[in-house]
Amino acid sequence: MLHDPNRVYVFDTTLRDGEQVPGCQLATAEKIEIAKALEALGVDVIEAGFPISSPGDFQSVVELSKAVSEPIICALTRANKGDIDSAVAALQYAKRPRIHTGIGSSDMHIKYKFNSTREDILERAVEAVKYAKRFVEDIEFYAEDAGRADNEFLAKMIQAVIAAGATVVNIPDTNGYCLPEQYGAKILYLKENVSNIDQAIISVHCHNDLGLATANTLAGVINGARQVECTINGIGERAGNTALEEVTMILKTHQALNLHTNINSKHFHEISGMVSRMMRMPVQPNKAIIGQNAFAHSSGIHQDGFLKHRENYEIMNPEDVGIDQSDIILTARSGRHALKHHLLRLGYEIERINLDQIYEAFLSLADQKQEITDDDLLSLMSDGSEEVVKNGYTLKLLQVVCGDPLNPTATIKLDYKGQEHEAMAYGNGPVNATIKAIERIVGKASELKEFNIQAMHGGSDDVSKVNMRVSYLGKSYMGYGFNTDIVKASAIAYLDAVNKFL
Ligand code: KIV
Ligand code: ZN
Repeated sequence: MLHDPNRVYVFDTTLRDGEQVPGCQLATAEKIEIAKALEALGVDVIEAGFPISSPGDFQSVVELSKAVSEPIICALTRANKGDIDSAVAALQYAKRPRIHTGIGSSDMHIKYKFNSTREDILERAVEAVKYAKRFVEDIEFYAEDAGRADNEFLAKMIQAVIAAGATVVNIPDTNGYCLPEQYGAKILYLKENVSNIDQAIISVHCHNDLGLATANTLAGVINGARQVECTINGIGERAGNTALEEVTMILKTHQALNLHTNINSKHFHEISGMVSRMMRMPVQPNKAIIGQNAFAHSSGIHQDGFLKHRENYEIMNPEDVGIDQSDIILTARSGRHALKHHLLRLGYEIERINLDQIYEAFLSLADQKQEITDDDLLSLMSDGSEEVVKNGYTLKLLQVVCGDPLNPTATIKLDYKGQEHEAMAYGNGPVNATIKAIERIVGKASELKEFNIQAMHGGSDDVSKVNMRVSYLGKSYMGYGFNTDIVKASAIAYLDAVNKFL
């Protein structure tokens, strides 16, 4: 029945199992936005809701059916006519509708949820599939709590529902109970003991109560399942469902499994943020694939190894999951290699700076702060002294006279490779006079193109950050200066840019 035996279908239930989580409820317009993003991601099936559960859910299934054309739109029901009628009505506009109906399969559920017997449950399962099949061709049957069900009874149930018309059979580990070996063996058991199993796709739906949802899903797929049910960011009942990004990246990374999906993983970062924002469910920073730290390196040893060869510490490419680049976080545990990496990124030429001295200053700052930002580095680099700048212009003296009615005048002394140069200039303000005086020493080939001053925190005693874009022979160079005196900060920023193109 499958064209490609190695193709794994992705069934996304973010908008059903995920949306059941308290606090995660969405408006229909938000669900449509997510559904369109899921379509762009390449999922095969979108479980759009549980129509009988509320008028809002019903309406969402209607609207999603209209909004999405490529993926199958699926609606959940229990094994009764009322639920199925409601799903049929909600799916009326779906181009490719699917009904997902089912009932408990473990003795626990049969006895304590349905107060019933295996025989009765089996009959209800078959009746539900037959009834749904009258309206919709594509019927998925779920054997709830299959993870704890007796395999022999489960096989009997699955065989009966396939005979009744089920096209997909879902074997949920509803309570996240199974070990990967047990779950994999269950799927294999069904493959080997259900005589008509080749007429349906086996689907795996795993919950994460013991943190095993992804491992169990993988075990299911390795043993013959060809549909995975998952959610973006792994959201879902209690500890959640299998995370879509995890299971699909495993298949992509482990090519030897020879299994593939239609998912374009480059959308992961974007869709993960969208779901997290809309559902007000933050993603834990260390979450695999899409957590903030998933591609961030912070210890000195790792940073050094990563910078020598990315694959020393990365098994996936961040671009493959929609993240621009890996992060080398600067902390007190970072080494010179990481510091050098960031200084190069900020446009500094390492030969022109005193790396050892800057590293010392960096370490003492890092001891006071948890993380060193770009602004911290720029500030370290902008004291304009020989301790920082090697083989470039350093500021020795700056005197400015201004006021009303005085003509702003700047006198400047710069050191260049051990030689002092002095100049004086007038300007229409103290900064303009200072820049002109510097230009008299370094030459006028450069031109100031952009000039911004920003108070770091506010207040008249604050440190100001000046950034300048200076063009030289058709190329732009950024210079930064930090100081409580904005004229000195401007002089340092200009020299910083000049030293970059020297
Ligand atoms: O976890 C589960 O068993 C379910 C079913 C409704 C498929 O979500
Ligand atoms: Zn579930």
